[in-house]
Amino acid sequence: MECVGLDRLDELMSIKSDNLDYTLFSWSAQSGLNPIDAVSADGVYVTDADGKRHLDFSSQLMNMNLGHGHKTVLDAIRDQLDKLQFVFPGMATEPRGELGKKLAQLAPGSLSKTFFTNGGADAIENAIKMARAVTGRHKIITKFRSYHGATYGAISAGGDPRRHPVDRDRLPGVVHVEDPYCYRCPWSQQPDSCAMECAAHVERVIGFENPQNVAAVIMEGESGSSGCIKYPPGYLKRVREFTAKHGILLIIDEVMSGFGRCGQWFAIQNANVVPDMIVIAKGLTAGYVPMGGVIVSEAIAAHFDSTPLPCGLTYSGHALAAAAGLGAIHAYEEGNFIEEARKKGAYIEKKVAELAAKFKCIGDFRNTGMLGCLELVKNRDTKEPVVEWNAPASEWGVMKEVMGIFRDEGLFTFVRWNFIFIAPPLPISYEDIDKGLGIIAKGLERVESSL
Ligand SMILES: Cc1ncc(COP(=O)(O)O)c(C=O)c1O
Repeated sequence: MECVGLDRLDELMSIKSDNLDYTLFSWSAQSGLNPIDAVSADGVYVTDADGKRHLDFSSQLMNMNLGHGHKTVLDAIRDQLDKLQFVFPGMATEPRGELGKKLAQLAPGSLSKTFFTNGGADAIENAIKMARAVTGRHKIITKFRSYHGATYGAISAGGDPRRHPVDRDRLPGVVHVEDPYCYRCPWSQQPDSCAMECAAHVERVIGFENPQNVAAVIMEGESGSSGCIKYPPGYLKRVREFTAKHGILLIIDEVMSGFGRCGQWFAIQNANVVPDMIVIAKGLTAGYVPMGGVIVSEAIAAHFDSTPLPCGLTYSGHALAAAAGLGAIHAYEEGNFIEEARKKGAYIEKKVAELAAKFKCIGDFRNTGMLGCLELVKNRDTKEPVVEWNAPASEWGVMKEVMGIFRDEGLFTFVRWNFIFIAPPLPISYEDIDKGLGIIAKGLERVESSL
């Protein structure tokens, strides 16, 4: 630890206790928590109160796509701070207009108008509202293995089990479908004989639900916290075809997968599909200031030319956040980070293939750009998971030890059941990729010795 006075030492030591005593932590039973007491961060490292550096291998919550302390974003925020921080959302500001225009240039097809929100979940809420208003229909189709945020509507839309404790009062009208989970195909198809039963299933469910009652299908641009379950080639095209045929809107949630994370501005561009709305957050501002948004097609925007938009938020189009968004987009462009994500992602895939040759507990590795996930199994033939899907933390067994190894060795990343996520900030060096994977290898050694 650097030399600090006794008063500062006391302050540093009370960070953790003040946080635990006076604040609530997401998704956790509160007793027994031991959060990293983060004091500063730079590049791909977070430094704690003891001066220990933690390599950020998940871009925090897959949002800090540019890493920490990126000068271009900081300068954009500072410049804006001196001019104007916030005005009533009915006023026009320079950063809001410029960011909207920039997003219209980056988004595919005719998607050209953005309603700005505070983050991802409320962007999903507003996308659902708009879809229902535009179509006059009420049903929303989403996948079981998906997460769209934690507000009531968004958590009902997601199929993630985080909805279970609150689903007594869920948003009506959401219908979940099976995922195109090729590693554990619900239809027992093999990649070489795949008949795309997964896409046909979605179309069948829509038929049963009555297409005339379905407002929208919501899917992530690329799956994230559910295990990076990649869409098989052609899947999203099929979904686009039958949604268009029935006048159903396709809403693509790019909250986690957007802004370079998957080697494109929007992951849906990998599938060459144009949706009706794109939901954004996280990488939009690279996490520096909270902001989300819904980018809608010209047709949807036109609907609200004469009908009032049924959406509003105090902080919609917040000037400081919009400046951060513009700064982040500028930084992605000047650092060529969209292409970098493709290159570094290919390198990570090669390195993980080497790990998979050594560690039989790696059942699958699914990665797009720099959004990747290892799925660990006890046995490659039976595919029995090292920890069951949705097992409570008390039953994570060896994965808890793996998390302990990561913490001790100075690696911060996401571990969930039998998944280890690999999604570092896009500017990470190859040396730090190797370092992070080296620490993950130590965790894998521990898993193998437990089998
Ligand atoms: C795909 C996706 N959609 C929506 C959200 C919700 O975003 P927020 O936490 O900003 O509300 C998340 C958050 O992880 C996400 O991954």
